[in-house]
Amino acid sequence: MNALATKIARWIESQGPISVAQYMNLCQFDSESGSYTARQTIGRDFITSPEVSQTFGEMLGLWVAQTWHDQGRPANPRLIEMGPGRGTLMSDALRAIAAAAPEFLAVAEIVLVEASPSLMTVQRDKLKLTSADIEWHERFDDTLTDRPLYLIANEFFDCLPVHQYVKTERGWFEQMVGLKGDALTFALYPDPAPNSDMLLPPSRGTAPNGAVYEISPAAIALTEEIARVIAKQGGGALFMDYGYDSLGFGDTLQAIANGKAVELLNDPGESDISAHVDFLALARAAADAGAAVYGPTTQCNFLADLGIGERGERLIKSNPTDAREIAIAIDRLVNPAEMGALFKALVLVAQGAPKPPGFGFG
Ligand SMILES: C[S@@+](CC[C@H](N)C(=O)[O-])C[C@H]1O[C@@H](n2cnc3c(N)ncnc32)[C@H](O)[C@@H]1O
Repeated sequence: MNALATKIARWIESQGPISVAQYMNLCQFDSESGSYTARQTIGRDFITSPEVSQTFGEMLGLWVAQTWHDQGRPANPRLIEMGPGRGTLMSDALRAIAAAAPEFLAVAEIVLVEASPSLMTVQRDKLKLTSADIEWHERFDDTLTDRPLYLIANEFFDCLPVHQYVKTERGWFEQMVGLKGDALTFALYPDPAPNSDMLLPPSRGTAPNGAVYEISPAAIALTEEIARVIAKQGGGALFMDYGYDSLGFGDTLQAIANGKAVELLNDPGESDISAHVDFLALARAAADAGAAVYGPTTQCNFLADLGIGERGERLIKSNPTDAREIAIAIDRLVNPAEMGALFKALVLVAQGAPKPPGFGFG
């Protein structure tokens, strides 16, 4: 048992079992042993799209600049990135915007929202040479102003904690993390979930015993907040992540260490723990909060529509010796058998705003 497992076990002994959501949060952000606070998890446990190819961040930067232009270049825009990881996406995005739309950078405020102090340090270092003034905050709530909001978030929502509910012959029960002897173990809460009628979709009645339903109140609440800001102040939000776009039951919680799936309850904090994003729930939350919603569409369609193919060709022309590497990396982003189909894009804009870039296909 590692130090974090012992800490969680002592907590459960004194307070009782914890939800899967609480467990995820401790694994990620325990101040001493969390994967995002104490471990260089990105690039070691898993790799994200901006770390695969510089063209990913460039495309997202151009998406921001084009959206702003199409909306009539509103004054005082704010560009916010949620969960910037190693700062690679923002670094590539700012370089692309500086080349294609310096007029955006001349008036924009740049804000990074990062909960991990150690990753903030990594980001500051990565971005120290950019000419843009950048602010850091730990929470989206701390960034609120009355400016138009342009927000990007890649592989951010999959980190937000999910609750899991399991169907049994006695109804739906919340999945908890408890103790069996000294070891952490999954166990259902002893009483049925009191609010399952409100939490679970109508098809819960026909789900088979053993079915699992996941819900992320944190992701839904944040999406509503972002959507409310955009509906009122204008701008656009782009969420890219892996996840599903139809209603379903299934256990998607996963822990990855050094690129391989590992047991969720073994060595907490020493792997990256996440769950697939329920894009339908986020789209519904955004629409309910007053935003116009585009997608989800696949990463493959979205990036192709933004012109990643053409960008790749230009990059290869200027770096012919790296041609093979560049082509392989871009293929990894867009190939449906790799990241192209599992990863999706969801966009929010204000009602009546022009159709955002990335949805011109088909
Ligand atoms: C999977 S990494 C993705 C990093 C980056 N976007 C990329 O694509 O490489 C998740 C990032 O979100 C941050 N994060 C996770 N939960 C957060 C929260 N609740 N508030 C702020 N940042 C969070 C992590 O610390 C990390 O920087």
